Amino acid sequence: MDKKTLFSGIQPTGEFHLGNYLGALKNWVDLQNSGEYNCIYSIVDLHAMTIDYDVKSYQEKVISNAIDLLSIGVDPQKSILFLQSQVPEHSVLCWILNTIVPVSELERMTQYKDKARKNDKNINMGLLDYPVLMVADILLYKSEFVPVGEDQTQHLELTNIILRKFNNKFGEYFQKVNPIYTKGTRIRSLQDPNRKMSKSMGEKSCLLLNDSPDAITKKIMSSVTDTGPQKSIHMSPGVDNLFTILELLADPEIAKKFNVDYHNRVLKYSELKTALADVVNKHLEPIREKRRELENDKGSVLKILEEGREKAKSIAEQNMKEIKNLVGLI
Ligand code: TRP
Repeated sequence: MDKKTLFSGIQPTGEFHLGNYLGALKNWVDLQNSGEYNCIYSIVDLHAMTIDYDVKSYQEKVISNAIDLLSIGVDPQKSILFLQSQVPEHSVLCWILNTIVPVSELERMTQYKDKARKNDKNINMGLLDYPVLMVADILLYKSEFVPVGEDQTQHLELTNIILRKFNNKFGEYFQKVNPIYTKGTRIRSLQDPNRKMSKSMGEKSCLLLNDSPDAITKKIMSSVTDTGPQKSIHMSPGVDNLFTILELLADPEIAKKFNVDYHNRVLKYSELKTALADVVNKHLEPIREKRRELENDKGSVLKILEEGREKAKSIAEQNMKEIKNLVGLI
């Protein structure tokens, strides 16, 4: 049986954090290793230009994120890894789709409204068009599966709306797109656990994949919890967050023991934190090691991206030929 195509993208931020990793990237690796899909993974550098970004450090950030992806186990022998801007067909398909998307569909996107509110000095056309470029990313490879966080649900619904419009207008071509949601997508800030973990929330709130063991331990030890295990079944967001990370990375027996202690109200948070720091550091150690190796061998990273580009391009060019033909372009 032919394998189905799976596509996912991540915006370059320079340094990925544990929220990116547990919420999305670890799943990329698991899906790749399942052997069930043709996996195509992209650093979506065109998307990240829609909000203010630092031009001078941008290239460096993109390469650093490519190193992150390779370090966590994205394997160029098994998956295609490439930079979005290096395959111009993404922009061409985006333009074609632009001509069939009602502006009103884009204006109702909650992420657009959110970002427009936060960047009210720079509400550019790209910000409004962001979801259409994402739809183009997915459809260019005729992908049927898209691993994403739940915050992308509306964009994937839009993908299906647009592809239906395309099929109605130009003939059946694209298949329905299905999200693959990641468990535990909601890793929160260590300092303000009501909000998602993000680099913009400050150093101490965010565990970077590339943090030193010492930094990881310090940040976890100073994370916000509460006054002690509660009677109610619901943990406070801070403690719940520590348990989420523990459950995703630790031996299930260890996680279970701490859970039982919590519910018996004998758990000391300092012990939970010490154990968690240990678990996170053990998990990150081989990733750091691989990172160190690749940082000293940027040439091979560039070569991998180059090969990824070639592979992505050959699929994109073939599909683009068919799409152009369907829409009446020569
Ligand atoms: N918008 C996605 C995010 O912020 C990133 C993205 C761009 C993406 N193109 C994509 C995700 C295509 C999946 C498929 O997370």
